[in-house]
Amino acid sequence: MKGQEWYQENDVAEAYDDKRFTGGGQFIDRREKEAVLDALAPLEGKRILEVACGTGRFTVMLAGRGADIVGMDISEAMLEQGRRKAAATGVGGDLEFMQGDAGRLPFPDDHFDAVFAMRFFHLAPDPEGFIREMRRVTKRQVFFDTFNRYSARSVYNWALPMGSRLYSGREARELVVGSGLEVAGVDHDFVLPYGFYRAISRRVASPFRALDTSLGETAVGDRIASVSYWDARVPG
Ligand SMILES: C[S@@+](CC[C@H](N)C(=O)[O-])C[C@H]1O[C@@H](n2cnc3c(N)ncnc32)[C@H](O)[C@@H]1O
Repeated sequence: MKGQEWYQENDVAEAYDDKRFTGGGQFIDRREKEAVLDALAPLEGKRILEVACGTGRFTVMLAGRGADIVGMDISEAMLEQGRRKAAATGVGGDLEFMQGDAGRLPFPDDHFDAVFAMRFFHLAPDPEGFIREMRRVTKRQVFFDTFNRYSARSVYNWALPMGSRLYSGREARELVVGSGLEVAGVDHDFVLPYGFYRAISRRVASPFRALDTSLGETAVGDRIASVSYWDARVPG
């Protein structure tokens, strides 16, 4: 379980946001936050669980917008970054961070309105077990992203130290349906992979992001996008 171990280290947790979401990476952070907000709206009073919340990028944002949110992660080091972020943003009293394993969520059935996980399924050694648990504790909605097999990410994916699993669209759909959920919507983005944005400044990245966004509006762009955002619902 490389992915689980990698994020336990303090230096990995401390560098997590800076390495990924500064410079050109700001476009990634913004797009991921948009995806989460679009999927989960309206937020006011909604009871939400974020699985594998890491440094709390989404947990803190959602607490600031009125959601009743719990962020859970297996790594204390990542959670500590989240607690600091929440305190610095002034929402420390409006959310709960807790340590736990996505494979055994410590909540009763149907406890939340929505459960989501970002940048997690590529690390999951047992995606079927994880999505089953997410489905068990939600009344209505599960939202997550996948990194895609038929995309530019496959060029460097093998070299990532924390290990990374890529999904075809068919595999991701089967995952959803196999857990008893229905696919309510799927969005694709990032023909240019995350690694490209992370390597360049925001200014240089800006025209590339515009090009990437227009490519993403085409059928070809959808097929070769490196990321997909899956909105799954409890039937009925
Ligand atoms: C790539 S980070 C993503 C963090 C956050 N969701 C984000 O998008 O910034 C993956 C996170 O999954 C967590 N993780 C890995 N295995 C886990 C498990 N079995 N249960 C809960 N969290 C886990 C790691 O500790 C890490 O914080």
